[in-house]
Amino acid sequence: MGLPYFRINGGNRLRGSVRIGGAKNAALPIMAASILCDGEVILHDVPSVADVTSLAELLGKLGVEVERRQDGALRLLASDEMNCKAEYDIVRKMRASICVLGPLLAKRGKAQVAMPGGCAIGDRPVDLHLRAMRLLGADVELVSGDIVAKAKRLRGTEMFLGGPFGSTVLGTANAMMAAVLAEGVTVIEMAACEPEVRDLADFLNKCGASITGQGTPRIIIEGVKELKGCEYRIIPDRIEAGTFMVAAAITNGELTLENCRLDHLMAFVDRLNAVGVNVERKDEAITVASSRRLEPIEVITQPFPGMPTDLQAQLMALLCLADGNSVITEKIFPDRFLHVGELNRMGAKLHKAGPTVIVQGVKRLVGAPVMASDLRASAALVLAGLAARGTTDINRIYHIDRGYQRIDEKLRVVGAEIERLSADEA
Ligand code: EPU
Repeated sequence: MGLPYFRINGGNRLRGSVRIGGAKNAALPIMAASILCDGEVILHDVPSVADVTSLAELLGKLGVEVERRQDGALRLLASDEMNCKAEYDIVRKMRASICVLGPLLAKRGKAQVAMPGGCAIGDRPVDLHLRAMRLLGADVELVSGDIVAKAKRLRGTEMFLGGPFGSTVLGTANAMMAAVLAEGVTVIEMAACEPEVRDLADFLNKCGASITGQGTPRIIIEGVKELKGCEYRIIPDRIEAGTFMVAAAITNGELTLENCRLDHLMAFVDRLNAVGVNVERKDEAITVASSRRLEPIEVITQPFPGMPTDLQAQLMALLCLADGNSVITEKIFPDRFLHVGELNRMGAKLHKAGPTVIVQGVKRLVGAPVMASDLRASAALVLAGLAARGTTDINRIYHIDRGYQRIDEKLRVVGAEIERLSADEA
């Protein structure tokens, strides 16, 4: 069977209600943290996406039983501590595999994790992860492309985790997971403040860890002897929510989002408001509707609570249709612009200059065959396809399946004409 692709016939206004799932980027480190726990971990709202499947496979090889229960919850139990090696085969598919490094080292005293390479959104070094492990007293070497780390028992310490682009999300997660079982107190300065890092800390505390300051740039961890398991619900996915907000705005429709946390999306909603998109809370849900005229704006991506890089591509798709010129600057991943060329194939007028893209607003986008290059870039192409005149075929949608649970089905329910086909059916 040929590779699946999306066929979208654009132009429908989306209307209705969408439930936002649990956050992929919170679920992945929390799943990895089960390595640290002596009892069973039950996680609710772990999305069924390809990255979760890949991590479950890796954890399985590392001796963690992972099972999706009938009620949808994920059950994890670390039952065998023999294997401490994360092979390149899985790590190259998913960089988030790096978050087994801290837990393996802390719980089993050794970890061998293939060094992740670059990816579609840039170089993505892991120097800050390694710095954190070394400062905690581990002996870390690079052997034939693998990170090999060893320590009898880690020791609490003070560390500064800032790099040239600010804090690091998974680096902070790794440092925190390593420090929970260390001897003494660890202070992480310039810690990432992202809600997903906070969710991990809250999960670890529920398992018996002693962490304070999560959600601020200074996290303090008092080492404990052991962690037990717990039952925990993952926070809603702010990036999926933001993507559906743009879907409402770009189709001039109106969507109600259930299970959406506006306090995790303040900077993004601020930018949407500036464009002329209305975002309102109604009881527990959020409604999003747009006026006909979209204003051009300036956008700069930043660490949380700033505008997330993971919504840059989607916002760019919307700004393609604004009445004037917008400017988007990427301050987290300066090369994260592979969607620019594809959006231009659909009639957008985008001009890239270094980490900045000038978006010259056009009256309409037109359907075209395009290629997904990474997770969020593919979401931007779907959004552009929903607004475009005519048919858009998006290839390589395995990128989108890594992080969005059945985005095509969710969009169809609210009125989009989107089909998942395989190359043979073309
Ligand atoms: N950086 C370093 N050294 C390091 C680590 C990072 O210089 O050791 C740099 C990066 O190159 C980048 C910046 O620091 O310029 C921030 O990267 P960060 O480490 O925060 O990214 P990450 O933890 O690898 C997570 C998300 C990404 C999201 C970024 C930024 C997960 C699984 N991934 O990656 O999500 O873009 O934070 O918010 O949580 C996605 O979901 O599509 C995605 C790419």
